[in-house]
Amino acid sequence: MKILVTGGTGYIGSHTVVELQQSGYEVVIADNLCNSNAGVLDGIARITGVRPAFEELDLTEGEKVRELFARHRDIGAVIHFAALKAVGESVQKPLEYYRNNLNSLMNVLASMRECGVKHLVFSSSCTVYGQADVLPVTEQTPRKPAESPYGNTKTMCEDILRDVAKVEQGMNLLALRYFNPIGAHPSACIGELPNGVPNNLIPYLTQTVAGIREQLSVFGDDYHTPDGSAIRDYIDVVDLARAHVVAIRRLMEGKNKANYEYFNIGTGNGLSVLELIRAFERATGEKVNYKIVGRRAGDIEQVWADTTLANRELGWKAEVPIEETLANAWKWQKHLME
Ligand code: NAD
Ligand code: UD1
Repeated sequence: MKILVTGGTGYIGSHTVVELQQSGYEVVIADNLCNSNAGVLDGIARITGVRPAFEELDLTEGEKVRELFARHRDIGAVIHFAALKAVGESVQKPLEYYRNNLNSLMNVLASMRECGVKHLVFSSSCTVYGQADVLPVTEQTPRKPAESPYGNTKTMCEDILRDVAKVEQGMNLLALRYFNPIGAHPSACIGELPNGVPNNLIPYLTQTVAGIREQLSVFGDDYHTPDGSAIRDYIDVVDLARAHVVAIRRLMEGKNKANYEYFNIGTGNGLSVLELIRAFERATGEKVNYKIVGRRAGDIEQVWADTTLANRELGWKAEVPIEETLANAWKWQKHLME
């Protein structure tokens, strides 16, 4: 059974390809390399001993997607990671974000329908909840209007999946709402490749410790949290990758309870920025040079997941301890500088 992994040379996609191959699935990756590079295929091959098939193409081009499905008639399921994901950039370039993220999904779904491919797992985000009124968030927590065009593409893509599932009875669509993915493969053969100055906490932190950045800014210590810094649910990228394997298996074994399902994928634990810095220092023995600055515009105060549904229905649970995740993030940063 071949799995099409769109965005498979990206950060989460590449870790998922490794887990899929190690679970015996054959993979074909489709990616236009707009935020990754083909060297990732070597990293995957070093870990698994298998170099996945790779198709360089832009999924916004419907004809190219159709040709892809025609070349790989044995595709049994799709994991759709491909998207643009920089929140700030999406505010500046809303058309590019809507065009890329919505058209890619719609082209993939249209080709699936044409070729009779029934199963798709989609990368959604906890951003669809915004600042929830009650924590932790369950799948029943209402979604809030998105704060950015990027976030809005996730809400809109979820709606597309819901509507398509209603009428395409044979299709099984499943969205995973990731909380904050961090870390890298323990082999340090693959990891996150931030483009330019990182916006996300962990790449900025590891680059600071590596001496590439002068100081980490902690955005806000006046939140209504125990230490005043913002709280997130940081999920190890390998744990997250494993969630895709069980989700695909659920669909292919027909264990899904509806044509469209969605699950929170986090650890169930909230950690503040300051707690995370301390955990990093404990895990690596390195000192993090940081200063407290004002809040970052658009940030929410706190969010973490209730993962009961994923634990029960997918039989999946986050396993990697946070110190190990942070040690792997540091190992990857050092590898990047070799
Ligand atoms: P990433 O940028 O590392 O990977 C995305 C991949 O998609 C890249 O390799 C990029 O080249 C490719 N791509 C983008 N547009 C494409 C197109 N039109 N055609 C072909 N390929 C295209 O990002 P990631 O962190 O691995 O994220 C994967 C998915 O998970 C995305 O949908 C993202 O929105 C979602 N997500 C990520 C996070 C996070 O914190 N990283 C959190 C929640 C959700
Ligand atoms: C952001 C996006 C989210 C997206 C996720 C992954 C916003 C509002 N949300 O989540 O939609 O899914 O990235 O791409 O942008 N922090 C610092 N200093 C830094 C960087 C971050 O203190 O230099 C803090 C932030 O204020 C936040 C936490 O660290 O409290 C995590 O930030 P980040 O890694 O950027 O992720 P989110 O903002 O949670």
